[in-house]
Amino acid sequence: MSEPILRVEDLRVSYGRVEAVRGVSFAVEPGALVTLVGANGAGKSSVINAVAGLVRPSGGRITFAGKDITRTPSHKLVGQGLVQVPEGRQILATLTIEENLRMGTWHTGSGAQGAIDGMYDRFPVLAERRALPAGALSGGEQQMLAIARALVARPTVMLMDEPSMGLAPKIVDEVFRVIEEIRASGTTVVLVEQNARRALRAADHGYVLQSGEIVHSGRAAELLADERIVQAYLGVEGGGGDRAGSAGAL
Ligand SMILES: Nc1ncnc2c1ncn2[C@@H]1O[C@H](COP(=O)(O)OP(=O)(O)O)[C@@H](O)[C@H]1O
Ligand SMILES: [Mg+2]
Repeated sequence: MSEPILRVEDLRVSYGRVEAVRGVSFAVEPGALVTLVGANGAGKSSVINAVAGLVRPSGGRITFAGKDITRTPSHKLVGQGLVQVPEGRQILATLTIEENLRMGTWHTGSGAQGAIDGMYDRFPVLAERRALPAGALSGGEQQMLAIARALVARPTVMLMDEPSMGLAPKIVDEVFRVIEEIRASGTTVVLVEQNARRALRAADHGYVLQSGEIVHSGRAAELLADERIVQAYLGVEGGGGDRAGSAGAL
């Protein structure tokens, strides 16, 4: 087994008195697609934001490529190859698509335009509208822009927080296709999703988070095959593009 590219040990995150993350540990192998699933409020964003350097952990340790990054701020991590696609996309609606993409390249120096042009090849819908304000894009297109903006930063590990949120089932399919392509290109992906079944179908390994703690973990296929886990954690909120409760959909 190779050394994990990312290791989270006994992570704790608190907001005042609210203990959102209560001792979470996991490790991610290079090139893997790992998912953290759980209901709204389980602590998924708090975990991923702590890894991305956006919230300060109250305890625990995070290691990326062998280095302790527990207290490393986000902008430094982006330069080191740990890049997040934030929850809710967070594209800048009044800036053009091109300007949004350029923001992803601030640290990459020469070659930035080449990386942006590469995204236009990959996402033709962005190319056609590169000079338009990003706010003119549909929700699904904005998600593609948010992903493209992360990719131009040349991540070795990409953190994605609920990329399927609020999108129609057909668009969710497209987003998952892109996620699987990113992984196939060798980038490690940590995917946070409420759409648990869908995420587990794409992932190698899964962690089920509840009230700030990991309550189940294992190979994604095994989690999906475990009727008790499916019933208890993945049942109704499997929602999204899936027909919840339909065993055949697994
Ligand atoms: N900035 C914040 N201030 C106070 N409480 C927060 C803040 N962000 C999240 N929380 C609380 O922390 C818990 C976990 O939230 P979050 O990490 O966003 O979960 P998830 O992403 O799984 O929905 C929730 O109880 C939420 O209300
Ligand atoms: Mg969240």
